[in-house]
Amino acid sequence: MGRVSGVLICIEGIDGCGKTTHARRLVRSIRKMGFKVVYTTEPTDGLYGRIIKQRILDADEGIQDAVVALLFAVDRLDHLEKEIKPLLRKGMIVICDRYLHSSIAYQGAAGLDIEWVRTINRYAVAPDLAVYIDVFPEIGLKRIAGGRRLKSSMESLENLEAVRAIYHRLVESNELISIDGTAPFEVVAERILKAVREYLTERRQHGP
Ligand code: TYD
Repeated sequence: MGRVSGVLICIEGIDGCGKTTHARRLVRSIRKMGFKVVYTTEPTDGLYGRIIKQRILDADEGIQDAVVALLFAVDRLDHLEKEIKPLLRKGMIVICDRYLHSSIAYQGAAGLDIEWVRTINRYAVAPDLAVYIDVFPEIGLKRIAGGRRLKSSMESLENLEAVRAIYHRLVESNELISIDGTAPFEVVAERILKAVREYLTERRQHGP
């Protein structure tokens, strides 16, 4: 597969949980430790990511949920081929702001069969570590409402509660590591860094 020594770490959570700020902070912290690290995000700024942003997230044109799920899966595969896999082959640490579990949680919350969502994402490599930042939907909504208009139905309270419930199930099945995102920023940042450090140490000792 040519993964060699690269590491794929994903940061997940509901809208307004602070994952983008934390992902960027994590990149700086890991870089200071001497690792080669790159920040990237989904949806991407590539062809399919732009379609998602313009036609679904910004405009909410009422595209059916299964089509939305397929578009996210396409964007992800393109992201993997063009960006993530080449970086992993070079041995880099890739910090991805949203990835596979966003599709499971959000498209699952929209009512799609989660097994089907996993199936259409079958060729998306599994992340080495997936960190989930947990906040109450009310907190997430308050944070994003302060910054900008709510963009789509994905960001309603009821929907974010459903998204969070699925994330919690993924935590229970150990697919995600949960960090309490309601603690002070520095505390959350430190806990995320600790989880990543522990993973990197473990991997150095025992391999991927
Ligand atoms: P987000 O990271 O919140 O972007 P921004 O903070 O720049 O607005 O992601 C945009 C939305 O896309 C978010 O509501 C979650 C949704 N999403 C999915 O529904 N499925 C996916 O697979 C991904 C990657 C995102």
